[in-house]
Amino acid sequence: MSKLVDVIRGRRTTKPATFSNRKPDPSLIRELIDIARHAPNHHRTEPARFYLLDQARIQKVGQLFGETVAGNCSDPKRGEKKKTEWGNAPGLLIVTCHTDQNSELVQKKPAVIEENYATCCCICQNLLLLFEQAGISSKWSTGPVWKHKDFAKAIGLTSVQNERVVALIFYGYSEQIIHHRTLTPLANHLKDYLET
Ligand SMILES: Cc1cc2nc3c(=O)[nH]c(=O)nc-3n(C[C@H](O)[C@H](O)[C@H](O)COP(=O)(O)O)c2cc1C
Repeated sequence: MSKLVDVIRGRRTTKPATFSNRKPDPSLIRELIDIARHAPNHHRTEPARFYLLDQARIQKVGQLFGETVAGNCSDPKRGEKKKTEWGNAPGLLIVTCHTDQNSELVQKKPAVIEENYATCCCICQNLLLLFEQAGISSKWSTGPVWKHKDFAKAIGLTSVQNERVVALIFYGYSEQIIHHRTLTPLANHLKDYLET
């Protein structure tokens, strides 16, 4: 129990720029992804799709995000910075949420779209915690690289129609020490009707 508490409290977002060149073992990453899939999942739709990128694809996604950022802001240097930061990351896993929009289930119960997304978020957190336990640092990003017209092709997205990106998870080894995050007191957010 205390190990789980330590892992939950100890996990912090770590900037990919601090990751060393050492690449985590791909077979370990695959194993952790498989474990992370064990999350609550209404209707057992298994909505998460995973794209575990090699260095060439990481660089390509970095390039596309650099172009996206440069196109969205007046500062071309920011685009270059993002291209380098993303493109040089030792590891990048993209998690998408697949929901068949034309399925009978979605027609009958549109809430399944949100429920599928919730399951994918649980899986992502599972994965970040498993990374933490394995000494691997990570960052969950939602930098909107998927808006780039070449993104789907770059990662071989299976279904543009039915998949939405949930997380770009950068991972690697970092020496950076980041302390626990202090949260606002629980009492601010908890209505507690229990007596003791
Ligand atoms: C859904 C989601 C999207 C996120 N997107 C980004 C992002 O695009 N860029 C970024 O720098 N951090 C991103 N983060 C990381 C958060 O900024 C980070 O979790 C937050 O600052 C709290 O820090 P901690 O993870 O170290 O506790 C994202 C986190 C989540 C859960």
